Amino acid sequence: MKKVITYGTFDLIHHGHINILRRAKAMGDYLIVALSTDEFDAGKGKEAYYSYGERKLILEAIKYVDEVIPETCWEQKVDDVVKHGVSVFVIGEDWKGKFDFLTPYCEVIYLPRTEGISTTQIKNDLKK
Ligand code: CTP
Repeated sequence: MKKVITYGTFDLIHHGHINILRRAKAMGDYLIVALSTDEFDAGKGKEAYYSYGERKLILEAIKYVDEVIPETCWEQKVDDVVKHGVSVFVIGEDWKGKFDFLTPYCEVIYLPRTEGISTTQIKNDLKK
């Protein structure tokens, strides 16, 4: 079984998220989403609208997602890939080049983002 992994906050799920999850799943048979915990986001100065538990519940209901694991720190990626037997690491191209250090362990693929949508944009637009 070919396992794929991707990382993110996935707050206020939008079509950009669905597009990347669909394309990530299409690269293998089993998709793992490493979902940033509220504490990890806080360390980045980010605060999701939905809690980790709520975001996990929503992601698990998406047909492309097979498993959700917590992302608690920047350094866990090599361990995750090795422990879960991951073949492909996928992330949006806003991170281009940032995770090339994983190439000895798995294939690293940066996918183009969906234009014109982000969680930040939704939050800002709703404030108007
Ligand atoms: N993503 C995407 N297209 C978008 C928005 C996000 O492909 N329009 C991808 C990101 O590149 C990442 C994953 O979805 O691989 C999760 O991104 P996340 O940061 O959770 O979503 P954003 O909408 O970018 O959230 P924010 O505005 O808070 O950064």
